[in-house]
Amino acid sequence: MVRAAGVSIHHGGSREPTVDDVSIEVRAGEIVGVVGESGSGKTTLAMAIAGLGPHVGASVSGDLEVAGCDPYAADRVRTRQLRADMQVVFQNPHASLDPRQSVRAGFGELRGLQPERTSWTTDEQLMERVRLAPELLDRYPHQLSGGQAQRVCIARALLFRPRLLIADEPTSGLDVSVQASVLQLLLDVRERDGIAMLFISHDLSVVRLLCDRVHVMRAGRIVESGATTRVLTAPEDEYTRKLLAASPGRRGPGGRAGAGGVASLEADA
Ligand SMILES: Nc1ncnc2c1ncn2[C@@H]1O[C@H](COP(=O)(O)OP(=O)(O)O)[C@@H](O)[C@H]1O
Ligand SMILES: [Mg+2]
Repeated sequence: MVRAAGVSIHHGGSREPTVDDVSIEVRAGEIVGVVGESGSGKTTLAMAIAGLGPHVGASVSGDLEVAGCDPYAADRVRTRQLRADMQVVFQNPHASLDPRQSVRAGFGELRGLQPERTSWTTDEQLMERVRLAPELLDRYPHQLSGGQAQRVCIARALLFRPRLLIADEPTSGLDVSVQASVLQLLLDVRERDGIAMLFISHDLSVVRLLCDRVHVMRAGRIVESGATTRVLTAPEDEYTRKLLAASPGRRGPGGRAGAGGVASLEADA
């Protein structure tokens, strides 16, 4: 689903690359994590893979193949296909939704973009899939909680029946109490639809729950990669060990619950 080989990303005006020579693969049906502390380049990498490099002021070099094509060199037909095959879920659901549009109107707009691809389901069925009451279809974003709004964003992604979901900290902005249920929804989505995911997070406990394999990113480079269980139980890189030591699950009773692995590392630094 994703093959990135030797990808480097520069932001305009900066000589140092934000992402330096990164290689990542996501196979069909797999959930692959990228974990690292804030500022390590995770979002930049995710946007570049999603074909949105220019939107975040970045130039991308290296080999990139996403759902069978190079997002920066696809013709119109393939670009249209890619826009359905690959969907992105962002950290802040309210920022991704048009405040002037009800949930139903938002679905309608997306259906208009690719009618043939989105006619497989009704709005009500879509809501059921993300476990939202159909009554919420007529609500506006400001009438939704963070968790509900993120479920709507996931529903909007599922509408296209994607093969790949890129999720950039999809639960980091949510109350701790709803984070787990949204993560469970993503697991269900993978289970049921076999959608592959590139999952970006600063939080090792989330990665532990979701990802088959993980890449640890530090200052734009991948410092360690492997099966999640191996990386989290027998880390080879010193930086990974540091992240793990700071992760709430590994803390004594003094640890701050819900602080998130790397977030607490930063707070302590
Ligand atoms: N539009 C931009 N222009 C210049 N620098 C940027 C831009 N976006 C991000 N950066 C820089 O790139 C680095 C990585 O940012 P980001 O990819 O957002 O990291 P993360 O998602 O891991 O927190 C940061 O140092 C940030 O300042
Ligand atoms: Mg980010």
